[in-house]
Amino acid sequence: MTISERVKNINPSQTLAITAQALKMKMDGKKVISFGAGEPDFDTPENIGDAAILAIKKGFTHYTTNSGIIELKKAIAEKLKKDNNIEYKTSEIMVSTGAKQCLFNTILTICNPGDEVLLPIPCWVSYTEQIKFAQAVPVFIPTYYHEAFKLNAKQVEEKITPRTKLIILNSPNNPTGAVYDSEELKKIAQLLLKYNIYCICDEIYEKLIYDEAKHLSMASLGDEVKNKIITINGVSKSYAMTGWRIGYAAGSEEIIKGMSKIQGHSTSNPNSIAQKASVEALGGKQDTIEKMRKEFDKRRQYMVTRLNEIEGMSCLMPPGAFYAFPDVKEILEREIDYNGNKIKNSFGLSNYILKEAEVAVVPGIAFEAEGYLRISYATSMENIKEGLDRIEKLLK
Ligand SMILES: Cc1ncc(COP(=O)(O)O)c(C=O)c1O
Repeated sequence: MTISERVKNINPSQTLAITAQALKMKMDGKKVISFGAGEPDFDTPENIGDAAILAIKKGFTHYTTNSGIIELKKAIAEKLKKDNNIEYKTSEIMVSTGAKQCLFNTILTICNPGDEVLLPIPCWVSYTEQIKFAQAVPVFIPTYYHEAFKLNAKQVEEKITPRTKLIILNSPNNPTGAVYDSEELKKIAQLLLKYNIYCICDEIYEKLIYDEAKHLSMASLGDEVKNKIITINGVSKSYAMTGWRIGYAAGSEEIIKGMSKIQGHSTSNPNSIAQKASVEALGGKQDTIEKMRKEFDKRRQYMVTRLNEIEGMSCLMPPGAFYAFPDVKEILEREIDYNGNKIKNSFGLSNYILKEAEVAVVPGIAFEAEGYLRISYATSMENIKEGLDRIEKLLK
């Protein structure tokens, strides 16, 4: 067999697959509306683009330090201090090609084969596969619709075994939009110390929160617990910079050194020009974040109201990120007949919606949550209206 067991064991990203399928239909002349996107539909702010152009003009186009330029690490340290109340030295920070690579580096640095990694579900698609790639074992902790998909410390403690090495927390959450309660995060922090467990806090949607929701960085809860935490963030979602591929991680020197070693032998430094642009993103004017957040908020309210009007769907008002995550179990119970087959799961339903309404949504199963769809509102209000009209008509 040519392909290694390690690679055979992992699944391709289903969100990227849906996006690719929708793109293919578009290229075939179909008017597909995509609710599959995991990225803001806004342009990168001009001041950030200008910083990149300047970097090119000045010839800042060579290899940089493997773990990122010191200027960017300083901007990250300042950001973490100002926004998150965490103090990190630049030696405790590294920059990678997207938060995705930070996560990959972290999991490979911390986990040995057979170690258990606690993962609240529904969860972002790549965590499970990255854990498996490291030959560690994902241990799921279900969170529930009727509890607004929030995690509590009791559930976490119940899943801890002597093999537990790591827990991955993602708040605000993709796909549910849940924002975890500060009180629960404080209790989970205590569990990290009690059982000697590491924790990844993926805070990539931190700036996209609505209503009364408040984001707490767990690493701000004291030095002892900070030592157990790797805080991960990036510029993709907050600054509409998904294509630039810059993410960052902050944690103990020991872990950051391990991560740098991996990066040094895989991709080396993240893109030099994008690093300069990120210095401007983090250190320059911040007003575009609020403009974007306000626009997302309008779309969120419209989309969730409309989804709840569709018979068989029920959807919570998500306090964070840019996804609605409706429960569609009632629709699945109807077992709609499609080309002689009955639609019984979220994968079948999203395929039906894509083929018949030409609207791309992501099946809940991609996030370890059958019976749901993830519908992104990171697209124009016009598209949202048209896409929801089509879904409503199809499912009537
Ligand atoms: C929860 C979460 N973490 C990390 C990432 C990766 O972001 P990037 O690699 O673009 O920085 C994403 C992207 O969709 C995400 O949703």
